[in-house]
Amino acid sequence: INWYPGHMKKTKDLLKNNLKLIDVVVELLDSRIPFSSKNPDIDKIIQGKPKVVVLNKSDMADSEKLKMWQDYYAAQGIKAIPVNTIGGKGVDKIVEECKNVTREKMEALIKKGRKERPIRIMIVGVPNVGKSTLINKLTGRKSTQTGDRPGVTKGKQWVRLKGNLELLDTPGILWPKFEDEQVALNLAFTRAIKDEVLDIETLALRLIEKLMIIAPNNLKERYRLNKLGDTPLETMDMIGEKRGCIMAGRELDYTRIANIVLNEFREGKIGKITLEVPQDLVNDKIEEE
Ligand code: GTP
Repeated sequence: INWYPGHMKKTKDLLKNNLKLIDVVVELLDSRIPFSSKNPDIDKIIQGKPKVVVLNKSDMADSEKLKMWQDYYAAQGIKAIPVNTIGGKGVDKIVEECKNVTREKMEALIKKGRKERPIRIMIVGVPNVGKSTLINKLTGRKSTQTGDRPGVTKGKQWVRLKGNLELLDTPGILWPKFEDEQVALNLAFTRAIKDEVLDIETLALRLIEKLMIIAPNNLKERYRLNKLGDTPLETMDMIGEKRGCIMAGRELDYTRIANIVLNEFREGKIGKITLEVPQDLVNDKIEEE
């Protein structure tokens, strides 16, 4: 998706329209980058509508840092639920929490004499965060139509779930933050935005740079290095040599090294690595001042 301004406006309008129909928003974040994968405007858009935060792909995340993010949200009175959608872990908790956050509203409606009706929920999140996978898991279906969806489609369909819930069958695709370079990199590392944004050799180099700081031992172990290089480029060279990424003329094949590192990171083979912690947000604010 290209998030040109017209498209963003359209998506925002569609979202607002769908919002009228629903009781609770399920906001999917990527556990490895809970800040970078958060849409900057979502809280403004949903305007106080009950929300459940899901830290998805928890199987790929560092468990200590995951806990830090849960605490961060808990301090704001929000229960953030770690979920591994593919493994089915935590999915039930989403349903439970949707009921919790809407209980008062539903009870109030009944007190006013309305008939009991299902709680209507909608899943939103930036690209590739796992929206379709979660919809399939909740509905027990094998696949929803994926591909080039223009945000939220008009032909709304409600799917009945266990426990008197109804799920809007198309997710709300949200745009990511654009301004911050580190955010854009994090999104590219985890594939929420396409590789073409940066050339992949630079992208891999920036990932190596980051991993040298936050997960040096994972890097050493994965690529069987006794020590890391003094610079990211040196480390990249060492990885290339270990993996035999040599072209004719004995030059290193950087495209190949880049693909190896990016793919292995994305597949979780380098380890359970979370790229940001809540403390980063505090530090950013201090730097700005
Ligand atoms: P868009 O259609 O681009 O908006 O993506 P989406 O948010 O619908 O994501 P989708 O469900 O297509 O999942 C994206 C990728 O993440 C797929 O390869 C999924 O298999 C993977 N995925 C989803 N949930 C999890 C999870 O909990 N753990 C892991 N490891 N992978 C997951």
